[in-house]
Amino acid sequence: LLHCLLLDHPAEVFLKHALVNRHRTAIVRYQHSRPIAVAISHGLINPQSTVFDYGCGHGEDVRLLMESGVSAAGWDPYHNASSSVRSADVVNLGYVLNVIEDAEERRNTLVAAYGLASRVLVVSVRVDRSLDTAAEYADGKLTRVGTFQKIYTQEEFCGYLRDVLGRTPHVVGLGIAYIFKEAQAEAQYLATLSFRGPQSIRQEAVEQFASDPLAQRYLARTRELARPPLGVEFPELPTLIEHFGSLDRIRRISEKLLNPATMHEAQESKRQNILTYLAMIKLQGLHPPPVSALPKDIQADIKSLWHSYAEAIAEGNGFLFRLGSPETVSKECRAAPIGKKLPEDLYVHCSIVDQLPPLLRLLTFAARQVIGEVDHDLVKISMHGRSVSFLKYRDFEEVAHPELEYSVRVFLPKASYTVRNYSNSDNPPILHRKESFVGFLHPRYSEFEALTKREDELGLLSRTDIGTRKGWLTVLSERNLRVEGHDVLADEKPAR
Ligand SMILES: C[S@@+](CC[C@H](N)C(=O)[O-])C[C@H]1O[C@@H](n2cnc3c(N)ncnc32)[C@H](O)[C@@H]1O
Repeated sequence: LLHCLLLDHPAEVFLKHALVNRHRTAIVRYQHSRPIAVAISHGLINPQSTVFDYGCGHGEDVRLLMESGVSAAGWDPYHNASSSVRSADVVNLGYVLNVIEDAEERRNTLVAAYGLASRVLVVSVRVDRSLDTAAEYADGKLTRVGTFQKIYTQEEFCGYLRDVLGRTPHVVGLGIAYIFKEAQAEAQYLATLSFRGPQSIRQEAVEQFASDPLAQRYLARTRELARPPLGVEFPELPTLIEHFGSLDRIRRISEKLLNPATMHEAQESKRQNILTYLAMIKLQGLHPPPVSALPKDIQADIKSLWHSYAEAIAEGNGFLFRLGSPETVSKECRAAPIGKKLPEDLYVHCSIVDQLPPLLRLLTFAARQVIGEVDHDLVKISMHGRSVSFLKYRDFEEVAHPELEYSVRVFLPKASYTVRNYSNSDNPPILHRKESFVGFLHPRYSEFEALTKREDELGLLSRTDIGTRKGWLTVLSERNLRVEGHDVLADEKPAR
C-alpha cells in the first residue's frame, strides 16, 4: 500500500493492492535462490562483478553474496523500501514479475530492471502448475493467502521477454533467463557453454597431473584395473581430490593421459567444438560476436584452423543444417561410441553427454535452449533427431533399478516441451542394465555390470514385463529373489 501511495497509483490499483498481499510472496531463504546460484555457476556473478537485486524480498541473496565478497545491494518496495535503486553489472529480478497483477506495472518493472543492468539481467518467474485449481484473477491466479501469481509457460515467458525488451533471452533453467546487454559477456557465456566438457581441461592441468607422483600412482592403478579405482582401491583419493579438484575432473584429466590423442584428433575435436559454438549462436538467432570478443585461446584456435573467421562461421552454419536431417542424426546416434541404443532412441547418462559426437551435443544444446537446465540423470535422443528428453530417476547411483520421477521431453521442430511426472505413480517405469548408460570410466561401472550379468544368468532380463516397478517385483517374487544394494539374493522360502 505504501508503495502505491508513494508511486501515486490510481485508486483502482490501490484497491487491487488492498486485495492482493504482494509482500507475502517473499519467503525467508537460507541459501541462494536458484537464479543467483545459476548465475554464480556460469561465472556471471563473481567477486569482480557488482550485483543489484531488484525486488529482493527479505534480502538473503544480497546478504549471502556480500558474505562471499561480492559487492551486492538490493531494493524491495515492501521489505527494503528505504534502500536506493541503483545500477550494477548484474541485475536480478527474481520471481517478481509473477507476483505483479497489474500488467502495465509488470512491464514497467521489467524495463526498469533491464535499464539498471550494464552487463546482464537475470530474470525468473514461476513456471510450475501447482496453482491450476486456484481462483482466476486478472491474467493469473489468486492464492488462498491472497497473493497473486501469474504462472508462465516457458514459451510464454521467453516470448514476453522478447516482446518487452526486444532482445533474445537465453533460457538457463525452468523459468530462468538471461538477457545480455553487453555483447562480450554474451559471447563469453556462450563460449563457457560450448567449450565446457572434456576438452575444457587445460593443457597445464594435464601436465601438472602427469608429473605429480601421487597422480602417477593413480594412473598406474587405473591402468591395472582398466577403470578408475574406487575409494577403497586407492585410499589416497581424498588427497588427490584436494590437489586436483573433483573426482570428475580427475577422471577427465586421466582420460587424456591414458588415451593420448594424436595431434590430428586434438585439432579435429577443437574444430568440432568451435563449429558447435558457432552453430549454437546461430541457433539462438544471434550474430556471431566479433572475433576480438572471443576468449583469447579460442581466437588462437580459430586462427590455426581456418583461413578466416568468416570461413569458420560459414562452416558453422552448414553444421547447423545437419540437425534438420533425420538420416544424419540417426547415423550419428547409431555410431555414437557411448550410451544405450534402442531402436527408437539413444540414452546417455548426464556425466558423458559432453563426450557425444558434436552433432548430438548440439542437439541437446538446442533442447536446453527450450527448457534450460533441468535436473536429470539420463538424456534420451530420438533417432530421428526431433525430440530430446531429460529423465530424472530416484537415486540413480544407489538404487539398482531406479524409478523414473519425471521426464521433460522437448519437441525440437516446435520448440515445445511436455513434462510427465511419475512421482505419485504406483507403477513407474524403472531402469535395468545401468552400466549401459554410463561411461566405462564411471566409478561404479563394474558394480552395475556385475549386477546385470547376475540378472542375465538368472534369466530375469529376457522377460518383457520388467519395465515397470510392479512387473519387476512380480518377476522377482515368482522366483523368490530380491535385490539388495546391487546384489540379487535368494529370499527365504516361505514357511509351510
Ligand atoms: C516472490 S518474492 C521474491 C523475492 C526475492 N527476489 C527472492 O527470490 O527471494 C517477490 C518480491 O517482489 C516484490 N515486488 C512486488 N512488486 C514489485 C515491484 N513492482 N517492483 C519490485 N519488486 C516488487 C515483493 O515485495 C516481493 O518481495
